[in-house]
Amino acid sequence: MKAGAQGARKLRSMLFVPADSERKLAKGEASGADALILDLEDAVAESRKGVAREMAATYLAARAASGSAGPALYVRINPLDTAYAMADLAAVTGPGLAGIMLPKTRSAACIARLSHGLDALEARAGLAPGRVAIVPVATETAEAMLTMQSFVGAGLVRLAAVTWGAEDLSAAVGAMSNRDEDGSYAPLYQWAGALCLAAAAAAGVAPLDTVYTDFRDSAGLATACRASRRRGFRGRIVIHPDQVAVVNEAYSPTAAEIEHARRIVAAFADNPGAGALSLDGVMIDRPHLVQAERTLAQLG
Ligand code: COA
Ligand code: MG
Repeated sequence: MKAGAQGARKLRSMLFVPADSERKLAKGEASGADALILDLEDAVAESRKGVAREMAATYLAARAASGSAGPALYVRINPLDTAYAMADLAAVTGPGLAGIMLPKTRSAACIARLSHGLDALEARAGLAPGRVAIVPVATETAEAMLTMQSFVGAGLVRLAAVTWGAEDLSAAVGAMSNRDEDGSYAPLYQWAGALCLAAAAAAGVAPLDTVYTDFRDSAGLATACRASRRRGFRGRIVIHPDQVAVVNEAYSPTAAEIEHARRIVAAFADNPGAGALSLDGVMIDRPHLVQAERTLAQLG
């Protein structure tokens, strides 16, 4: 197992909740999301940073005390190069915390640094070492786009998933928009999404797609999720409770996919020496078996 028990949970939908909003915290809990990301960063005004941190800590402690199930609780701390980051981390590391979302990641070294901080804070809180997972937003800085290779062989044991962002990256490069005139992502952001897929796969964790910002457009979201899943994304970060059900469904295998995956696994089990087989007149070999096993693993 790559991370602690909580970090290893399935993450189809991760719902951002501004941590200084009592109302949204309550709504998020019942949203059906696999995880909430209590946000201390961009969704929180500078003047509310301290309040948000306190509210996140209180919320996490209440969850731990109640022992109730509910979404896994992640916290998006402020970037490591701000004065807030370590105070955020110190305030929220406790039994209710499943993981940290790290914004503005610049390379795998940032993740290693965060992990060292967590080593100490887990010990102080009496948590099992390595229990708190990390999900980096891997493409928010220009530097990160050029250091993605650092994920290879970095031994990031806390990593639970990798996600990406297009908003901060466009600000970082001084773009007027991250979209071309036809509405599709400009090349840099298509590249960012593709690098997220590659970095996650290289690190052996799930890639999670970026935010679909038009949260009133459920049909558009469903279409985007289908395309995203075909490309390999296993879930996505969301910003509104109305997006959760669409995303959970879109990133879950269909009955037909499960059935097909079972038949592929069974075909190889029945032919232990075979490298390639024929199923319904189509050639299947090792990559098909790997994909089938991955589909079935999503059921657990
Ligand atoms: N988490 C939990 N509850 C949320 C929510 C969220 N992300 N977004 C909206 N809600 C709640 C609202 O509070 C409202 O509940 P209420 O009637 O009990 O107050 C209900 O869902 C309907 O909300 P709606 O009126 O449709 O949206 P809004 O105008 O209140 O909020 C946003 C729109 C975009 C400001 C809001 O969705 C939001 O804050 N999203 C997260 C932003 C964020 O964290 N960004 C950082 C990452 S990119
Ligand atoms: Mg941001």
